[in-house]
Amino acid sequence: MNPLRPHPLIEVRDLHYRYADGTAALNGVDFRLEPGESIAVLGPNGSGKTTFVLHLNGLLTGTGSVEICRLKLDKQNLPAIRRKVGLVFQDSDNQLFMPTVLEDVAFGLRTMGISAVESARRAEAALDAVGIAALADRAPYHLSAGEKKRAAIAGVLAMEPEVLVFDEPTTFLDPPAQRSLAALLANLSQSKLLVTHNIPFAAAICNKAVFFDQGRIAAQGPIQEITGRFGWEFRVEQNKLAL
Ligand SMILES: Nc1ncnc2c1ncn2[C@@H]1O[C@H](COP(=O)(O)OP(=O)(O)OP(=O)(O)O)[C@@H](O)[C@H]1O
Ligand SMILES: [Mg+2]
Repeated sequence: MNPLRPHPLIEVRDLHYRYADGTAALNGVDFRLEPGESIAVLGPNGSGKTTFVLHLNGLLTGTGSVEICRLKLDKQNLPAIRRKVGLVFQDSDNQLFMPTVLEDVAFGLRTMGISAVESARRAEAALDAVGIAALADRAPYHLSAGEKKRAAIAGVLAMEPEVLVFDEPTTFLDPPAQRSLAALLANLSQSKLLVTHNIPFAAAICNKAVFFDQGRIAAQGPIQEITGRFGWEFRVEQNKLAL
């Protein structure tokens, strides 16, 4: 290996995963995320995108290998890997469970042993960054879908992980919130992996894209090339009309 070449943040080799009911969701995924890169994960519904990202911090384990910052994803490395990879779920209800929004956003920091005062300070800053500082004392399960999404994003930002992984972060966000999230993410220094059907949003943040099809990465390259090649820009027009 070239010692001058930085090690990849994420390296996945020949990943296969089958759900309990027999559905083969991943059929040999090879993927790398290098430092400084941000990659959009595109592809049709059911092509394996969510299944793939759930492997990046060990929520699912298939066959093949997953390495994060050169750490092999196994039981022993799992706590360290969960600190390095911040994952915003497609469904916010899976991510929010504390009595108040502030406690929820501070939860991960508290589990890392950070003091209550410092955790609350960082949680407040993260809530401010996603524009919901005023909701800090509310119960997460009473929030609107878009507010829940922002709270879930704040919880991950507060942890300051090395890699940020977002599964459909713009779902339920109104257009101004989508624009401010795009600006926020584009300004964060961390590498990002962004699963989305929202191409303008992806293009504002990522320069590269991978295209999933039937549990495999069918193509990868510059985002414009990939969206053009798969006719994905048609969906952009649909999104614009829908907005
Ligand atoms: N819990 C589950 N049990 C069985 N099959 C599942 C489960 N979750 C997902 N699948 C199947 O695995 C395949 C990949 O699903 P996945 O959710 O990863 O797709 P996706 O690319 O994220 O789709 P979308 O764009 O709709 O979010 C699909 O065929 C789906 O039906
Ligand atoms: Mg999905």
